[in-house]
Amino acid sequence: MQLKGIFLLLSIGAFTSYYVYQPIPDKIEERWKLMLTDCFFRSLSHLADFSELVGLKDYMGVMMFITFAERVVPVSDQRVHVTEELFDGVEVVVYQPKLQGGDTELRRAVIYLHGGGWCLGSARMGPYDLLARQMVIDLNSVVVSVEYRLAPEHHFPVPYEDVYRVVKHFLQRVVLAQYTVDPGRIAVSGDSAGGNLAAAVSQQLQQDPEQQLQLKVQALLYPVLQALDLNTPSYQQNQNMPILPRTLMVRFWSEYFTSDKTFFRAMMTNTHNSPESAALLKFVNWSAFLPESYQGKYNYSAPVVALSAGGAGSDGPSRSIADPRASPLLVPDAALRSLPKAYVLTCEYDVLRDDGVMYAARLRRAGVEVTHEHYASGFHGALMFTVWPTDFLIGRTMTENFIKWLQHNL
Ligand SMILES: *[C@@H]1O[C@H](CO)[C@@H](O)[C@H](O)[C@H]1NC(C)=O
Ligand SMILES: *[C@@H]1O[C@H](CO)[C@@H](O)[C@H](O)[C@H]1NC(C)=O
Repeated sequence: MQLKGIFLLLSIGAFTSYYVYQPIPDKIEERWKLMLTDCFFRSLSHLADFSELVGLKDYMGVMMFITFAERVVPVSDQRVHVTEELFDGVEVVVYQPKLQGGDTELRRAVIYLHGGGWCLGSARMGPYDLLARQMVIDLNSVVVSVEYRLAPEHHFPVPYEDVYRVVKHFLQRVVLAQYTVDPGRIAVSGDSAGGNLAAAVSQQLQQDPEQQLQLKVQALLYPVLQALDLNTPSYQQNQNMPILPRTLMVRFWSEYFTSDKTFFRAMMTNTHNSPESAALLKFVNWSAFLPESYQGKYNYSAPVVALSAGGAGSDGPSRSIADPRASPLLVPDAALRSLPKAYVLTCEYDVLRDDGVMYAARLRRAGVEVTHEHYASGFHGALMFTVWPTDFLIGRTMTENFIKWLQHNL
């Protein structure tokens, strides 16, 4: 396509997003900056739709532009030693504090999983590289940032399994010794889809009879936790919010499981549950788990159950959505009881708010120690916006508070 054409499309996209979509709520700080940032994201999304429509490149392929644009080569600096390695065949970037002469004190470690809806993002994006360095310095920790494979090229469970392999590989005494890591002070953490993977891995590790070493804490930053009900109050309230509108989140979910567009359309209308997943709807019943202040004006109605959701067979996506490795909220309390201490960050202006709020509530009820930090003026993705020109104060505040929690709890 000609550059002029792209520019025209971007301009049209910017105008339609400005005029068509809801205004950004007053409570959000730096609204103009967010509006402009969002215009860019929406325009790219329109361009991606168009590109897919005319058969140039698929939607996620175009959206990957952001990931490539922000890509950096992670190199060592004065304080942080950086290496790119393979852990059990999976790419990781390892950040370590540079040892002071003769320093053999055991260190903490954070296994970090980037966001991007399982389809986008990379450990090698500028904001993730910066976050990893900050954790190394502020926590004197080793950070393992995982480059798991992405959908739609690699559907569920590949991204999850990549992460699980890395965690299992790292949590061996002999490997930890190589990195001078204290086996009792290891965290798993991630934002958005990375928070989903972090929660899933924490659960599966607990149930693994061969696993000796366990995680000390899990830190979930505006995590995605369930695919059964895509009409929670936060999905309804924030369906047109910047950065992650409902359509995009539904798209991520459906692409995680399948490239079949029928399933996407069923998810859009919240009619994608099958009899199999319907039995688990009780675990995401927001009228039961969501504190009233978050329920707002919305009335609960259980999602419609179709006999053949999205036309998929029993091995298809309707089975995957019921898998707790994809939807960690779908486990009984007994499976939550022995989970590591948790930090859950949620934002008011985020379709995923209620996923995080419900998980925090359920973990607490099961007896897990939980710190739930809710940002009343927060929006999805804010942690990634710490670099000029798209730097937001709230992103910096979130990062500081998250790291402070790790300082005290890891
Ligand atoms: C959800 O919870 C409410 C009570 O809070 C209950 O009346 C309703 O039957 C539940 N629905 C499902 C699908 O679990
Ligand atoms: C919820 O139910 C109440 C009482 O039945 C009704 O007055 C209200 O309009 C409903 N709210 C919405 C958003 O539908």
